[in-house]
Amino acid sequence: MLSIDLKGKKAFIAGIGDDQGYGWAIAKALAEAGAEIIIGTWTPILKIFTQSWAAGKFDESRKLSNGTLMEYAKVYSLDAAYDKPEDVPEEIKNNKRYIDVEGYTISEVAAAVYKDFGPIDILVHSLANGPEVKKPLLETSRAGYLAASSASSYSFVSLLAHFGPGMSPKGSVISLTYMASEKAVPGYGGGMSSAKAALESDTKTLAWEAGRKWNIRVNTISAGPLQSRAARAIGFIGNMIDYSKANAPLVKDLEAEEVGYTAAFLLSPLASAISGSIIYVDNGLHAMGLAVDSPSYQGLNA
Ligand SMILES: NC(=O)c1ccc[n+]([C@@H]2O[C@H](COP(=O)([O-])OP(=O)(O)OC[C@H]3O[C@@H](n4cnc5c(N)ncnc54)[C@H](O)[C@@H]3O)[C@@H](O)[C@H]2O)c1
Repeated sequence: MLSIDLKGKKAFIAGIGDDQGYGWAIAKALAEAGAEIIIGTWTPILKIFTQSWAAGKFDESRKLSNGTLMEYAKVYSLDAAYDKPEDVPEEIKNNKRYIDVEGYTISEVAAAVYKDFGPIDILVHSLANGPEVKKPLLETSRAGYLAASSASSYSFVSLLAHFGPGMSPKGSVISLTYMASEKAVPGYGGGMSSAKAALESDTKTLAWEAGRKWNIRVNTISAGPLQSRAARAIGFIGNMIDYSKANAPLVKDLEAEEVGYTAAFLLSPLASAISGSIIYVDNGLHAMGLAVDSPSYQGLNA
């Protein structure tokens, strides 16, 4: 029987803050396949995440098909907007959510994970942040645009640059992207569309570089809309889900676990010849050239 077997593999997943997002669904699929789960959680929300976990708030979502609960080996405080301690501005260092925390920059987390676990096999980037995401691109400040790219796309380059040397050969890496990189999606602003375009382009260049340097595969999943915490912050996620149901080839909800299963495949040896690819998990919406629910289109649809 063909199955996804990740027993003995160690996975670091950056960008889990609760049980609602794609990072969680990917962790769960990897755990189902037998991988050991190591988590990187954004520094300002680390406490609430670990407290909620300890208080049993995620127990229902942690259930695996064999009846056990998903466990993590360790969770690290991570702010992927910073590469090394000297990059962290004073106001962040002294912020009440950071002041008692150490070692949250990418280089420090990569070194700590290597020290604690040795080589890892799987790296997942499931994080994004655009402080001006609600503003149209034309109204986005330079600072907002660069912050979106820093947290949402350079963070991927940096994670791979720092984790790559400590990854097992034949390791596999993925990120999460969104169709607004390729086609205009009004409402997805603040330079987030630009950041996703960079992420997709970088997927190809990094696949080449990391492939030749470390024998690691690099891919990205272009996911459809999901009611995650990050997506709710954008403000129109409900409309995007309705739009997708009205216009995508497959008329159904998109479940986070469908992205999780694709991730588990891409991160497994079954995908050993796939690198530098953008894999769409969006009920087929990306294939459409027009909105069939548009009033201008009425009467023409088959
Ligand atoms: N939800 C959607 O509709 C959708 C669609 C396509 C792609 N995606 C992508 O999926 C990925 C995961 O997002 P999600 O929607 O599942 O939401 P989510 O809220 O579960 O995940 C985003 C995570 O990023 C973390 N984060 C933000 N800034 C960070 C930083 N500087 N350092 C470390 N972590 C940071 C947040 O704390 C959060 O845990 C993102 O890349 C997102 O763009 C989401």
